[in-house]
Amino acid sequence: MRIIVCGGAGFIGSNFVRVRVREHEDQILVLDKLTYAGRRESLADIEQEPGFTFLQGAIESEQDVERALGALPGVEAIVNFAAETHVDRSIEAPDAFVRTNVLGTFTLLEAARRHSLRLIQISTDEVYGSIEQGSFNETSPLLPSSPYSASKAGADLLVQSYHRTHGLQACICRGSNNYGPYQYPEKLIPLMVLNALEGEHLPIYGDGLQVRNWLFVTDFAAAIGRVLEAGAAGEVYNVGGPDECANIDIVRQIVALTGAAETQIEHIRDRPGHDRRYSLSSERVEALGWSPAVGLAEGLARTVEWYRRNRAWWEPIRSGDYRAYYERHYGRALTGS
Ligand code: NAD
Ligand code: DAU
Repeated sequence: MRIIVCGGAGFIGSNFVRVRVREHEDQILVLDKLTYAGRRESLADIEQEPGFTFLQGAIESEQDVERALGALPGVEAIVNFAAETHVDRSIEAPDAFVRTNVLGTFTLLEAARRHSLRLIQISTDEVYGSIEQGSFNETSPLLPSSPYSASKAGADLLVQSYHRTHGLQACICRGSNNYGPYQYPEKLIPLMVLNALEGEHLPIYGDGLQVRNWLFVTDFAAAIGRVLEAGAAGEVYNVGGPDECANIDIVRQIVALTGAAETQIEHIRDRPGHDRRYSLSSERVEALGWSPAVGLAEGLARTVEWYRRNRAWWEPIRSGDYRAYYERHYGRALTGS
């Protein structure tokens, strides 16, 4: 296939591009603004593959989007990963979330309409809000808690409106919490792995009993691939991970895998509006022939090993702007690197 992948230099986008270029021989153009979270280094091993092109640009810029479309003749679909993605940053500074996640998706929808392209919008379980028991399905009401999840819900509604009003061939994939190689260390699992390896504190929000539904990133990439190949226009597909786990138990597993000390764990001020539990029913995407291949125990071990072996990927992050963010957000400095 010929696909434009927006946000392909980020965590999930780069993993998706790697699978599509290597295993499906797709022609891929990555359009990415290269924000703090976007890194060419995450694509370094596939930059030379035939059929891979990179273009720096913003999804909210019609000019950049048209430039990308012009650079990939015969393009069939846009897969949109591009977003501001960190809940804590959306509480501190929500502007970019509205600009990229809402206005950016709108700009892509208009382009897809003009050029009669399919659009796969990558969304999140957070649009449903928190659920104490049971699981959300695709018809559950949207009740987002944070500016991040509200901006993603807004984008989802725009996508659905373009399908209903203009007949745009669009699908939405709502994934649960992803983890694995190339994840920026502001997120729970890589943050805890690196802090554990570097002998630093392991900051848990509140009581740490919040539950997330963990999905290994290559499993999400495979599900998105199935939706790209066989998804029905206008449909939403939930993609949940195989294992639920409380944050505190994830951190205890990371402590065990890294040989860190439990005394590094520190409970700190809770996140405002913190969702207690996420859970998705994935029956619809399973009916397309998808199922998760990597369980949490195996995925965590693989993730810790990847960060151990890829210091050259994460050390420049921890010595750059991330330090200032960390100090501002956690009220203390990183000391390790
Ligand atoms: P990420 O923060 O690692 O990467 C985001 C990428 O988008 C970066 O490469 C960044 O440079 C790019 N980007 C940001 N603003 C842009 C703009 N205006 N124009 C072009 N590119 C821009 O994100 P991620 O964790 O890989 O998430 C990817 C998508 O998946 C997001 O839409 C997110 O909402 C969704 N999602 C994430 C998770 C998760 O657990 N990480 C789970 C479900 C869904
Ligand atoms: O559920 C899917 C979502 O998962 C995606 O849509 C988001 O883009 C992605 O960032 C992620 O959101 P979360 O808020 O669930 O992920 P995060 O890694 O920030 O936090 C996971 C849990 O860990 C959450 O309950 C908050 C907690 N946490 C997080 C950090 C960074 C801590 O206790 N301490 C921390 O330092």
